[in-house]
Amino acid sequence: MDDYISVQTAAKKWKVTPRWVNDYCNNGRIPGAKRWEGKKDWLIPKNTKKPVDARTKIAKAKSGEAKPFLKWAGGKGQLLTEIGKYYPFAEKKHIKKYAEPFVGGGAVLFDILNKHTIDEVYISDINAELINTYTTIRDNSDELISRLKAMESDYLAKDADLRKETYLAARARFNALKRDSVRNTETAALMIFLNRTCFNGLYRVNKAGDYNVPMGAYKNPQICNENNLLNVSKKLQNANIVCGDYKDSANFIDDKTFVYFDPPYRPLTKTSNFTSYTEHLFDDNKQLELASFVQNLDNKGALIVISNSDPKNADENDNFFDNAYSKQNIHRVAANRMINRNSDARGKINELLIANF
Ligand SMILES: C[S@@+](CC[C@H](N)C(=O)[O-])C[C@H]1O[C@@H](n2cnc3c(N)ncnc32)[C@H](O)[C@@H]1O
Repeated sequence: MDDYISVQTAAKKWKVTPRWVNDYCNNGRIPGAKRWEGKKDWLIPKNTKKPVDARTKIAKAKSGEAKPFLKWAGGKGQLLTEIGKYYPFAEKKHIKKYAEPFVGGGAVLFDILNKHTIDEVYISDINAELINTYTTIRDNSDELISRLKAMESDYLAKDADLRKETYLAARARFNALKRDSVRNTETAALMIFLNRTCFNGLYRVNKAGDYNVPMGAYKNPQICNENNLLNVSKKLQNANIVCGDYKDSANFIDDKTFVYFDPPYRPLTKTSNFTSYTEHLFDDNKQLELASFVQNLDNKGALIVISNSDPKNADENDNFFDNAYSKQNIHRVAANRMINRNSDARGKINELLIANF
């Protein structure tokens, strides 16, 4: 018996809770672990090192803060300081509502919810699987977390070949559910699992609407960030979460509302046409429709910020947005992205922040 230690001793040694140690044992992550004779407690070989997994990071997450739970194309993490200069809640006390009709990964949403108390929140996106993930986190976080924990333990314990099999099976299952429009906790868990393990956290569908991103090459991807999911769930408790077109937000938005619009970017060059986040295209006509929608909300008295790509990065005579938003204030801010990874025109480029105040 001297060669073994108890769950409590291992927990102290590895600086985790006994529940985690039990999870490791139950999931076969501790070679040589065995049950006390006749009891359900585990015994752990004395010199076992703590299994490497991404959950260590979870314990260190800043308490109470919610962060985007998915990587998302066009995520605004790097522009938060610039966009944050427009948050009106501290100075304009009558602004008590927030709307983000193209929510995506929600970088601005969570930044605002971490900093301000908002009376009413409205978020929407046309991507039904994404919105199902938001509503599942809000309404059913416990079941989601246990599914993700099981998927994480299973995946991390496997070698490269078995991981690939698991990834492809998860993708096939996700697509089967998607085709039948089944949007439940399982779909949400698969959405997070695929986002964490796929190539570059991409969400891309083919013409048939099937998610078709290949597996990524992460060594220890964090699939279940329990702390963050719980924080996100708390922050979303009173949010209106809508699957649909951005125009559905019209009734919510009034003179007490701050609105941030982050539509799919207008492509800078003909080759950089990654705008199909979903099966829906967002072409120049759609961009112009959005500009006139914004004008109507401006007339209602809402405070509005819109972001987009700056066409002048590629063609300084292209005044598309200057014309479309001629009544608004157009600001150009330096962004940390490349004009086109395959061209010679590398370096920092500008993005547009358009505001009506
Ligand atoms: C640039 S992304 C938003 C990124 C987000 N700001 C972030 O930080 O992750 C644009 C989003 O708009 C959604 N979308 C596209 N067309 C839409 C529409 N007509 N109405 C609502 N959402 C739409 C896409 O699914 C995508 O999630």
